[in-house]
Amino acid sequence: MNTRHVIELAPSGKTFEAGDELLLDAMLASGLTVPFSCRRGACGSCKVVVADGAYRAKQLDPGGPAPSYPLAANEMLLCQSHACSNMRLEIPGWSLDTPALVVEATVLGKRALSPDVIELIVMPDMPLAVRAGQYVKFRLVDGDSRCFSIANLPAESDGRLGFQIRRVSGGLFSETFLGAVEAGDLLQLEGPFGACTWQDDDGAPVVLFATGTGYAGIKPILLTALKRDVEVTLYWGGAQPADFYDRVFLDRMIMDHPRFRWHPVLASEGRVQEVALGHGHHWQAAQVYACGNGAMISQTRAACLEAGLPSHRFVAEAFVPSGRSSAGVPSKPLDPIWEKVGPRYSLDGMLAAREQSIRALAAIASQLKVGMTTGEALDMAAEQLHAMGASHTWHPTYIRFGADTVRPPREGIDRQRRLRATDIAVVDLGPVWDGYEGDYGDTFVFGDLPLHLACKKALHEVFDETREAWLRGLTGRELYDFAEQSAESKGWRLARNLAGHRLADFPHALFESKVLAELEIPPSEMAWVLEIQLCHPTEPVGGFFEDMLMLQA
Ligand SMILES: Cc1cc2nc3c(=O)[nH]c(=O)nc-3n(C[C@H](O)[C@H](O)[C@H](O)COP(=O)(O)OP(=O)(O)OC[C@H]3O[C@@H](n4cnc5c(N)ncnc54)[C@H](O)[C@@H]3O)c2cc1C
Ligand code: FES
Repeated sequence: MNTRHVIELAPSGKTFEAGDELLLDAMLASGLTVPFSCRRGACGSCKVVVADGAYRAKQLDPGGPAPSYPLAANEMLLCQSHACSNMRLEIPGWSLDTPALVVEATVLGKRALSPDVIELIVMPDMPLAVRAGQYVKFRLVDGDSRCFSIANLPAESDGRLGFQIRRVSGGLFSETFLGAVEAGDLLQLEGPFGACTWQDDDGAPVVLFATGTGYAGIKPILLTALKRDVEVTLYWGGAQPADFYDRVFLDRMIMDHPRFRWHPVLASEGRVQEVALGHGHHWQAAQVYACGNGAMISQTRAACLEAGLPSHRFVAEAFVPSGRSSAGVPSKPLDPIWEKVGPRYSLDGMLAAREQSIRALAAIASQLKVGMTTGEALDMAAEQLHAMGASHTWHPTYIRFGADTVRPPREGIDRQRRLRATDIAVVDLGPVWDGYEGDYGDTFVFGDLPLHLACKKALHEVFDETREAWLRGLTGRELYDFAEQSAESKGWRLARNLAGHRLADFPHALFESKVLAELEIPPSEMAWVLEIQLCHPTEPVGGFFEDMLMLQA
């Protein structure tokens, strides 16, 4: 007899029933939203905390791989377990109510901060989970929208969102719409989005750059730094003294926080990056954030990197025109069968997840040390992803050293293998950021062995050529045929079992999924990951690179 057990999910109190089937299948059948991905006990997405009740592990297929995700004593994987009694479970970092992509918000008020900057305060009809530094899109008629940064920490303002909006001459939102809006009006907001967010708590000295209302994106990061009592310095550029419209607040913070400095920089007196470099920060250890005009961001990035800042420690948002005519639009509609997405899918979300994944990869690569075992590297990567705010890893983190670089990801590796002074290493990440799947991987060469360097070079050439072929309209299958020939022409073998896959709002595993190499239509942008793994035909040397297919990579 298939006894049914009642499974309660804390703290919501929602329940579902489960019998002999896997708990993951029972929960999916009940219509509840479930975090999951691999279904083989490797990614940990479906991890729950068992607060009460008994369960048994799934019987393994003969010769099949055992679940490899490490669990604490009170944790269990839904995809690997059957209930043996009524149970009470908690799903860490997961809400059963999928946050809406679009919310309504009521205008609470607006006031002038300076002759051309307006502060707008709104209250969304449901609390938004906002990370310091993110923005929302204000929806306008006809599907158009405008981006504005959330200039406060909503969780500390009863959920209110504050914006600082510069009047743009002839601007549809900042002039026409904002001029007419009144307290009580209803607005539609999409988001929050963005990867220019507070990164982690490693205590690094923080250097902030803003021009004009770029300060709106920087202020929540400043507030976070002040709360954590780290050393923080702000350089704020403006054309005239009135542009430093939050001066009173900043001067007060200097009195309250001895580790905080701020410098107003008038355009007539120099540029923010010039002033900062003159102050001799310890750039090798700093964490830099920049918001505002695009020229300031690219010049500041170049100057800071030149001074020794590691590239992944420069985090920025350019305040460019954000109307429909200037924003990225998908090249073609997604295929309704092979490119299904969830209710929160958005290009802004996918782009932010990609950006944060690239940054995480660089941060992890910078911590790979000669002598470290693969196991130690995996533990370090897990800590880094957690510190940067990843809620899940939709696929396990793969790190491969030396001869393991020719193995496909699912094949077991030697956790005790040590990174040597002359070596080649692969890192492949699949983190989930704010409900969006990121996926990024690359190969790193230690020492200067010509074969290792040649592998990395060929890898990137094959990827770039295959991406170019995608722009010409090839199907997924044709892309991998093309990549195979491209690899061969360079003296390498393409590992075709690493064949590309879907990416969407988490979890894309809900939808029927093909590998990219079997797709008979041209893949759309921002829905697929192109994976390239090369192996040397005779030597145990391999490399891996992957990225989301997008028009402007
Ligand atoms: C992620 C993000 C966050 C942003 N956050 C803020 C914020 O917090 N505060 C803020 O004031 N702005 C912010 N911006 C910039 C803002 O979204 C744009 O300026 C927006 O287009 C203004 O809308 P509008 O309808 O008033 O003007 P539009 O109708 O979009 O533009 C009118 C004319 O002005 C030009 N224009 C518009 N904005 C700019 C600009 N920034 N630089 C140069 N030319 C421009 C347009 O090309 C067009 O010709 C942000 C932009 C992004 C991408
Ligand atoms: S571990 Fe269960 S879905 Fe991956």
